Amino acid sequence: MAVQISPSILAADFARLADEAAAVPNADWLHVDVMDYHFVPNLTLGLPVVESLRKATDKPLDCHLMIAEPDRWAPQYAEAGAGSVTVHAEASRAPVRTLREIRALGARAGLALNPATAVEPFEDLLGEVDMLLLMTVEPGFGGQKFLDVVLPKLRRARELVDKHGGHVWLQVDGGVDGETVERCAEAGADVFVAGSAVYGASDPAAAIDELRAAAER
Ligand code: DX5
Ligand code: ZN
Repeated sequence: MAVQISPSILAADFARLADEAAAVPNADWLHVDVMDYHFVPNLTLGLPVVESLRKATDKPLDCHLMIAEPDRWAPQYAEAGAGSVTVHAEASRAPVRTLREIRALGARAGLALNPATAVEPFEDLLGEVDMLLLMTVEPGFGGQKFLDVVLPKLRRARELVDKHGGHVWLQVDGGVDGETVERCAEAGADVFVAGSAVYGASDPAAAIDELRAAAER
C-alpha cells in the first residue's frame, strides 16, 4: 500500500495546533498522541482537543491512545471523527470487542505493540485490524532514539500481514528520521510517524517530502 506520512503533533506547539496542522499540507494523516499519566508517564491531550482539531483540519486524525482502559475510551475517539484509533495490546482487556467497536463507528482500527511485545500472538487478530503499530521507542515521549531491536519484529510482522492478504497498514512510531525511515521501509513498514523529524525541522513540509522520498526509495 502507498507510503503514508503521519507527522506527530506531540512535537508541535500545542498553543497553535491549527497552524501546526496547516504547516504540513503534504502530510497524509496527522498523528495525535493521547497520553494519560497512567499507561505512560506523560500527559498530553484528550477528546476535547481531538474534537477541536477535527474542525480545524481536513487531515485524517491518526489517534494513538497511550492510555489505561482504552476499551472504555477508544470508541469516543472514533465518534469524534478520528480517521484511525489505535489501542495498545498491553492495555486492552478486550481488544477484539474494542477493535470491532472502532470499525463499526467508521474509523480504522489500530493495534499497537510496545518494543517488548511479540507480534506472533496477534496473528489471528489480523482480520480485526486495519493497522498494526510497532513502537520503535518505549511510548511516552518524543525525541527518543530509534530502537533497532524492533526491526526483526517488523520483518516478521510484514510476513504475517502479507500471508493474510496484505490489507493491514504497518505503522512505525518513534525515532523515525531521514535515516531510520529507510530501514523501516526496507523491513516492511508503510506508515511512518515522525514528530521531532518534522516539527523540529525549520521547514516541516520539506521534512515530510524528504521522509517520503526516503521511504519510497
Ligand atoms: C511516543 C509517541 C510518538 C512520538 C514520536 O510515545 O507515540 O508518536 O511523537 O516522536 P519522535 O518522532 O520525535 O520520536
Ligand atoms: Zn504515537
